Order: sequence, then C-alpha cells, then structure tokens
Amino acid sequence: MTALDRRLLSDNTEIGADGMLTVGGCSVAAVAEEYGTPVFIYDEAHLRARCREAVESFGRDRAIYATKAFLCRAMARLAYDEGMLLDVASGGELHVAMAAGVPASACTLHGNNKSVAELRLAIEAGVRHVIVDSFDEFDRIEALVAGGAGAVPDVVLRITPGVSAHTHEFISTGQNDSKFGFNLENGDAHRAVDRARRSDGVNLVGVHCHIGSNVFEASSFAKAAEVMADFAIPLDLPELVLGGGLGVAYVEGEEAPSIAQWASVLLDACESLGVRSRVSVEPGRSIAAAAAMTVYTVGTIKDIPGVRTYVSVDGGMSDNPRPVLYGSGYESFLPRAVDDPRDRTARLVGKHCESGDVLAFNAQLPSDVEVGDLLAMPVTGAYGHSMGSNYNKITRPPVVFCADGDARLVVRRESFDDLLATDVFSGR
Ligand code: LLP
Repeated sequence: MTALDRRLLSDNTEIGADGMLTVGGCSVAAVAEEYGTPVFIYDEAHLRARCREAVESFGRDRAIYATKAFLCRAMARLAYDEGMLLDVASGGELHVAMAAGVPASACTLHGNNKSVAELRLAIEAGVRHVIVDSFDEFDRIEALVAGGAGAVPDVVLRITPGVSAHTHEFISTGQNDSKFGFNLENGDAHRAVDRARRSDGVNLVGVHCHIGSNVFEASSFAKAAEVMADFAIPLDLPELVLGGGLGVAYVEGEEAPSIAQWASVLLDACESLGVRSRVSVEPGRSIAAAAAMTVYTVGTIKDIPGVRTYVSVDGGMSDNPRPVLYGSGYESFLPRAVDDPRDRTARLVGKHCESGDVLAFNAQLPSDVEVGDLLAMPVTGAYGHSMGSNYNKITRPPVVFCADGDARLVVRRESFDDLLATDVFSGR
C-alpha cells in the first residue's frame, strides 16, 4: 500500500526537521498540543491563493464565495479582502458575514424558502442581489417593499436548466426534478421573467443556475452554460451567474480541474455562444476544501481477527458527516510519518454512539499506528466544520489558521457551558 499522495495536502505543507508535518510553517503537533484535538487546521495562504485565483480568472465582482462551504468571521473577511463577493444562503450566513465587516452590498442571498425575516434583513441591509427562487418569494418581496422595508432589490432569478451533473443525487440540483428554482422546461422560467419585469417590487438584473456540487466534468458546466446562454441572450440582462460546483480531489487517483481551468471552460463557452452579460460564479468547495485538514487523536484500536480493525478517534460524524451522508471517501495519515507506506487497513470511526459513525470505511494507515497518535484527514476544509453538529453533546472543534509560522485561533473549541447556552431550563 502506498504512502499518502502529497498532492492532497494544502499548498504550504512541509515535513519539519523533527519529521512532523507543518502547515503554514506551524508544526501540526504543536497546534494540536496548544488547541487540543480534534482541530481544523487551515493553511491560510492556500485559502488566499484560491480566492485570488478565482478573482483573477473571473474578474473582480465576478467571483462570489459560497459561504456554506465554510464560514466564520475570519473566513468571510479573508474572502472579501481577497476581492471576492459572498454568497449567503440564510439570514444566519448573512449575519455572520456582516459581523465580519463585509458590507451587505457585497453579499448575494440564496435560498429556496427564504423567510420573511430573512428577506427583510437582506432588503433593509441592502444586499447586492436577492436570488429569487419561487413565485411565493416574489409575493414576500413585493409585500416587504410595499410595506417600506427598503429600496426595491436587484434580483437574479434562479433557473433550473434541466442539466444533470454527474455527482451524488443529494448534491445534484440542475435537473428538472428539483426543489430549487424556476424550471426552464415547463415554462416557469419565462413566466418568472415576465413576473419580475411587471413587478414594482423587484428590479430584474440577471439569471442564475447551479447544476450541482463536486462536479469533475468540465463538459457538465459547458452544457449548463449553453442552455443558460440560449435562455439569457434574448433577455439581454446584465448578469449571468453560473453557480458553483467545481469538484476537488479527496482521495488518491481523483483529478479535478483547477479554478483557472474551470474559468476558461465557462468563459470560452459563454464567449463563443455570444453571451454579453457579466458572467460570475459561486465557488465554495474549490476555495476551502483542500485548504484544511482535521487532526484527531487515536484513542482506541480494536482488532477483530478475521473481521477487521477499528481505529477510533476523538471526533467523528459531528465534525465530518460527509462519509455518512454521501459515502464520501477521505484519506488519512499520521503527521509524524507522512511518507510512510500505509499497509494497515482499518475502519476509521468516531466516538459517537452509533455504528454508522464512520470517517473512512477502508482507511490505509501505517502498520505502527498506535493509541495516542495524531491522525490527520486532509481535504476537510469544506462542508466539514459548516455541517458539524453537537450530536451526543460533543463540543465542536476549534479552527486554527496557520500562516508564516503563526497559528491563529479563529474559532475556539466549544465548552460544556456553550452546550447550555440556548437551554433556558430554570429548574422546573
Ligand atoms: N451556489 C449555489 C446556489 C449552491 O447551492 C452551492 C452549493 C454553491 C454555489 C457552492 O457549491 P460548491 O462550489 O461548494 O460545490 N454539503 C454538500 C454540498 C452541498 C452544496 C450545496 N450548494 C457536500 O458536502 O458535498
């Protein structure tokens, strides 16, 4: 069995003089010592480089970071400072972005069922665009504007183009059978354009589609661009938003296009199709996923001869539900022995009270893995922390940004008292 493919590690990782992996010049062991495990360690320069690549490839104000992938104030600020706008998919994401000092005018609001309160917050604050997802949402926005909530918002219509992306069905969104957007095929998309144009409560500035997430095939994006171009060109609107969805390599053998390559596929397709609108995108995973690894401590090794070995770590489905939800694969390795052959196969599991709590079904680990070892899982920077939970009242891990030898705590570990923060029981 082979050693870890180092291409799965973030840009600024090295093996230190003591043999221990470093991220952004910080020893993984030292970070784990200081902040405990599990811990999300982000390579800050890697994050910045991906944001810049997106801005350089698509242009300023055309690269919109999908905050659902990973959001805290430091991340919102970082993406904004590097020139990205922010896509928020709830009032909560908008609140965090604004709390980081990102102006609402740099945020676009998504959601297939935005509440009146979320829409009010967005309109009052003056978001850049509301991406309208349904006819019911038109009713809500029009009522808010008529009631004096704020200026008539610029809106973009979410279109369901009828293009299926090659990805997991739970994260595929462009097909006709979808809860999202106005379907092109049944005429809803055209009806939504008519409605927006007639409405006093919205100012139509563009159309949007998002075909799915973790898509590796450039051809799926080109197909969506083609369908959207056909629809958008006659409308002659200033904005065409083609969503996010660029995949990343999680395990050995996977190859994904870079952000720059994705941009050239999309922008070349749009140009050759004659699109005159500004083309923008909403990458999330491709910005954040490969920037981080989760570092755990091995606590228990159970060998069942003839059956399998279980290696249990001090986190699990509460810090990374993706293996359980989507059957997603991840690699794992020991930061003290990054280049060692990994010839022991084990089921890597967490500490939650259920058998389904699996992080890697067939993890490859060095044969000398032992209790007390730090164990790292790369490519956990997107949809890990953001989809985390408190299941079993396990406290959420901290997030540390490492750059130039400095480890900066940006989200602290939850405390047991935090578990009671919203619990208002007063004794009876
Ligand atoms: N724009 C829209 C409208 C979206 O719905 C999404 C993701 C994105 C952009 C960002 O897509 P990305 O570039 O990150 O692929 N929890 C799942 C992913 C769900 C994605 C939902 N929408 C996972 O862990 O794979």
